[in-house]
Amino acid sequence: MDYKVLNNGLKMPMVGLGVYNIPERETQRVVEDALSVGYRSIDTAAMYYNEKGVGDAVKNSAIPRDELFVTTKICDSCYTREETLRSVDHSMKQLGLDYVDLMLIHWPVGNPTVMWHTLEELYEQGMFKAIGVSNFYPNTFPKIVDGAKVMPVVNQCETHVLYQQRKMIEYLQPYNVALEAWSPLAEGRNSIFKNKTLVAVGEKYGKTSAQVALKFLIQNGVIIIPKTTHKERMIENIDLFDFTLSDDDLHIIRLLDTGRNVTGWPSDALRYNPESL
Ligand SMILES: NC(=O)c1ccc[n+]([C@@H]2O[C@H](COP(=O)([O-])OP(=O)(O)OC[C@H]3O[C@@H](n4cnc5c(N)ncnc54)[C@H](OP(=O)(O)O)[C@@H]3O)[C@@H](O)[C@H]2O)c1
Repeated sequence: MDYKVLNNGLKMPMVGLGVYNIPERETQRVVEDALSVGYRSIDTAAMYYNEKGVGDAVKNSAIPRDELFVTTKICDSCYTREETLRSVDHSMKQLGLDYVDLMLIHWPVGNPTVMWHTLEELYEQGMFKAIGVSNFYPNTFPKIVDGAKVMPVVNQCETHVLYQQRKMIEYLQPYNVALEAWSPLAEGRNSIFKNKTLVAVGEKYGKTSAQVALKFLIQNGVIIIPKTTHKERMIENIDLFDFTLSDDDLHIIRLLDTGRNVTGWPSDALRYNPESL
């Protein structure tokens, strides 16, 4: 496993398991499967209603807690410090863990500045090892970083071979904030697994289209959290560290970028035009 050293010195696995859309009753089993095949990082959120399953799997595991990396995200639309504290408290109770490795603001709604200052306070008290944001674009990111005491360590945004976010990577560089990809497999949309370029590149390395799509992100320094409930796909999605895509292959995969989000999640509701970056 490769790790990214975040801007506060914390090491984060480059590959984690996303658990969006996994029902609560299945989540503990799925996370236990993932841990058994080598995953050490899990990405959940209050909005996924499965934090308890993640926490139970972590607590039941024989793996030392400090070798695991748990990310969650507070509920949206907190406007005050009290609402933010309640939201954090809810997640901490669901997880049942002493601390969270990475706490994110899920979307730039509510009052992001107030939410951020509240997370900073809890970070300084040791409740989180790191804090960050998700779905913040240049119209909202300054609400966090202007006047921040603690810089976000990551910005988690939709990123995959069809929406490569090269301008976002450049935008975040001066802040030393890492880009973390959500939907790194584009939710399987646009026939990504049958994409001729990805399949052809994969054949050269004895790898699948999914592995090529994920490795492309890693070679661009992007942290990934692919989701699957199938153990054999978990193994596939983490088996990325015995090959390196050549410059020529990186170049042809770069040409797959559509510059647009494909999942339909509301970047536009954030009043953000990707072309304005
Ligand atoms: N911050 C945010 O706003 C936000 C938004 C969306 C997602 N996320 C996070 O990002 C994580 C990943 O994104 P995602 O779940 O939307 O989508 P994704 O990881 O891009 O794709 C998941 C889909 O691909 C399938 N799949 C996974 N590996 C495969 C493989 N090797 N071969 C073929 N099919 C494969 C899965 O099916 P099976 O499960 O049936 O295998 C599932 O249908 C989420 O779980 C969540 O943690 C965050």
